[in-house]
Amino acid sequence: MTIPFVLCVLMSTVLAAQNTFTLYAYGTNISGSQVFYSQGIAQIGDVRYANSSNVSNVYFYEESGKFIANPNITSTTASLKASESNTTWTDLSFYIPKSSGQPLGFTTNINSAEVTTGSWHFYGEYAFIENSAGQLESHFFAQPTDVDGVYNILWSLSDQAQLASPEIKSISIRTIPPASG
Ligand SMILES: *[C@@H]1O[C@H](CO)[C@@H](O)[C@H](O)[C@H]1NC(C)=O
Ligand SMILES: *[C@@H]1O[C@H](CO)[C@@H](O)[C@H](O)[C@H]1NC(C)=O
Ligand SMILES: *[C@@H]1O[C@H](CO)[C@@H](O)[C@H](O)[C@H]1NC(C)=O
Ligand SMILES: *[C@@H]1O[C@H](CO)[C@@H](O)[C@H](O)[C@H]1NC(C)=O
Ligand SMILES: *[C@@H]1O[C@H](CO)[C@@H](O)[C@H](O)[C@H]1NC(C)=O
Repeated sequence: MTIPFVLCVLMSTVLAAQNTFTLYAYGTNISGSQVFYSQGIAQIGDVRYANSSNVSNVYFYEESGKFIANPNITSTTASLKASESNTTWTDLSFYIPKSSGQPLGFTTNINSAEVTTGSWHFYGEYAFIENSAGQLESHFFAQPTDVDGVYNILWSLSDQAQLASPEIKSISIRTIPPASG
């Protein structure tokens, strides 16, 4: 009786390890830019060009509607010196801010008042937020930073804010890497 139980546990461990994914943004002039950690917030682009210390590439796994991030030490140390990166943290939740126009980020406290109560949800390779009414929402925007090709990810810009900041473009977030790698 114990052998099938052990096999079961081993199999679920293997499955969990396979269920990690990396997230990429797609939109106007943005063709599969990787989501990375940058001093607590989420940015997209090449981690080497981020204008901050304490950045790292990240991979995710999904758990009960949460995307849990960990530093991808392999790809981060291949790109950056240790003094520029921060791969010392583990298991931060990729959160959506409650207020529109704020950046997505990484937190230990997913129940904070700053964080939306929606949960992450995949539809095919597209990541959505499922709101309390059960609707899937994708209101992600790329906000240019002072570095070409590096953007903050903002949530749910009002029409007024979009008109005022035409450089901020709508994006989708997917698990598919760009064709060119
Ligand atoms: C896309 O990028 C090209 C080349 O950098 C630029 O000329 C063009 O204006 C950009 N388009 C938009 C909509 O930002
Ligand atoms: C590295 O990131 C973690 C998670 O955000 C943070 O708690 C820690 O202070 C950072 N370390 C440094 C040296 O910035
Ligand atoms: C960034 O994080 C690394 C690793 O934790 C640390 O050695 C470094 O001092 C940090 N740099 C800054 C500017 O906080
Ligand atoms: C870390 O990044 C490398 C290089 O992009 C990738 O091959 C690997 O699958 C990533 N690790 C995880 C756990 O996703
Ligand atoms: C990096 O950010 C700092 C502070 O936000 C800014 O003063 C500086 O010009 C930026 N550097 C580059 C190369 O964009």
